[in-house]
Amino acid sequence: MTRAYLCCIDPGCGKTLPLDSPQLACEGCGGLLDVAYEFAPADPAELRRLWRERLGSEQSCDQSGVWRFRELLPFLAPPAAPVTLGEGGTPLVEAPRTGRWAGEVRLWAKHLGANPTGSFKDLGMTACISAAAATGARVVACASTGNTSSSMAAYAARAGLAAVMFVPFRAIAAAKLAQAIEFGARVIEVRGSFDDAFRVLRAVAAGSALYIVNSTNPFRLEGQKTAVVELLEQRGWRPPDFLALPGGNLGNVSAMGKGLRELIALGIVGGAPRLVVVQAAGAAPFYRHWNTGEAIEPVEHPETEASAIRIGRPANWPKARRELESTGGMVEAVSDREIEEAKAALASDGIGCEPASAASVAGVRKLRRAGRIPAGAEVVVILTGHQLKDTDYILRRRERFDAARVVIDADEEAARRALEALLST
Ligand code: F0G
Repeated sequence: MTRAYLCCIDPGCGKTLPLDSPQLACEGCGGLLDVAYEFAPADPAELRRLWRERLGSEQSCDQSGVWRFRELLPFLAPPAAPVTLGEGGTPLVEAPRTGRWAGEVRLWAKHLGANPTGSFKDLGMTACISAAAATGARVVACASTGNTSSSMAAYAARAGLAAVMFVPFRAIAAAKLAQAIEFGARVIEVRGSFDDAFRVLRAVAAGSALYIVNSTNPFRLEGQKTAVVELLEQRGWRPPDFLALPGGNLGNVSAMGKGLRELIALGIVGGAPRLVVVQAAGAAPFYRHWNTGEAIEPVEHPETEASAIRIGRPANWPKARRELESTGGMVEAVSDREIEEAKAALASDGIGCEPASAASVAGVRKLRRAGRIPAGAEVVVILTGHQLKDTDYILRRRERFDAARVVIDADEEAARRALEALLST
């Protein structure tokens, strides 16, 4: 039998808690918690075969790209059932033009924007809302730059729970707010940053019945870690040399690293890719911490057009550091201009994503130019959100695309002239 429990990540503390504990931080030291397992011995070949076999199943939990790997997240005891919307099962697409643009690397995009609400948050939310429902929570809450809240709203609706979101006023993409409203979330707009919204939420949640579903909730990361399992399966269990992803609150890189460590411990894969976290230059406290060795210094007024990662106090940084240390990882920071160029490179391969996601590609190019990623390296980038999450960003640059647009009367001759003009440029 596999045993599952909560455990403080600080080795000097190591306090353990039962899975249904209402605490989402260590009671002893206030540190972050992991969902920890003592896995029963399993035959890796048999697990790989079982996961593949489920792809042909009609059961909803087998059709979920999270719960298909449920042996890796055995925290939900029957009769509790997963709250699922068929998340996961997202494409891994080679991006040859982008790879050349980044400096002659072999590049694949794992597109987590192809999830039910359009971001990787759905992988975490199915796990976290399932845990919330199993422990009898009635009201879930989060602070968000927009994607966590739209995902929470959808999964809370699915589970019949109320949802409250705290978001920075006028600072999240309109499409993300629209999604959450349609799913019935209550919206509290905070005059301030994401970090202010998170601070206020944590203060009001203490001692209340609010169940927080931010990435400090360790069940979130259990769902998110399956992205790395799925992408390795799509590569025939051959790890790439590098796995690059954008960093905001640093939950996702923590999830990837934990997933990799567990896959290695279970003998499913022989080694891990080096993890690469990319932050926006105007919101890069972890980049500075990692590359200077100095104590982490919050950014009071984080600035970047990539609003999803406009975060100055990344709550999961100790977990992120642990995972980067365990894979020989790197941290880069990129300007908004570099993000824009990376987004255009992906578009030339027919791949759209939201600005924050493109930061990963921009970071790969920068590390390639600095010689820290070699030419010919195999690189997988995690695209975290869908292109349609932030169309305002694209429309703000509409003059770039004006040469490709023309308005005509509904007239054959005008159509002919327009075609000639557009196709000759
Ligand atoms: N990419 C996108 C599209 C995001 O929405 C986020 C985080 C990240 C990257 C960074 O991931 O926080 O795990 O390092 N969005 C959160 C939200 C903060 O509220 O939607 P991280």
